[in-house]
Amino acid sequence: MKKTLCFILLTLTLLNAKEFNAPMKTYMDTLSAEAKAANPSFTGFDAKRGETLFFSKQTGKKGSEMSCTTCHTINLKNGGQNVNTNKPITALAPSANPARLTDVAEVEKWLRRNFNDVFAREGSALEKGDVLTYIINQ
Ligand code: HEC
Repeated sequence: MKKTLCFILLTLTLLNAKEFNAPMKTYMDTLSAEAKAANPSFTGFDAKRGETLFFSKQTGKKGSEMSCTTCHTINLKNGGQNVNTNKPITALAPSANPARLTDVAEVEKWLRRNFNDVFAREGSALEKGDVLTYIINQ
């Protein structure tokens, strides 16, 4: 009985999970291989870890407290604002903005910049994969 329930819940979760397009899948596979090389016990990206990362407060490259939500807000379905330039940012959630997470070059460029803004360093393959897994499901 418990097993059946688990199975149903797992199926629902999988059905609910959003898909990356083919180039983004290849990118995610590359991140996955890097994460595995860095840590042999790596078993897959985790949206929950990605969410924690997205909301975590860090000392940014300018020495002030920053998180991903500083510019993207705590609701990814809403637009945000670039606190460095005051320019508006459209929603990060693919459910609200289907163009998101569709262009590998764009994603790589902004993850490099944004990790630097927030963590004052580049993100690891694990961190990038986790946070993209979180965002794709928003
Ligand atoms: C200083 C402001 C700022 C912070 C902090 C920030 N971002 Fe961004 N982010 C931007 C801007 C500006 C863009 C590009 C403009 C746009 O796409 O609307 C962007 C774009 C992105 C994209 C590209 C999405 C796509 O496919 O178009 C991703 C992914 C992203 N950010 C993730 C993050 C993550 C993860 C963090 C935390 C580590 C973060 N951002 C923190 C400003 C920020």
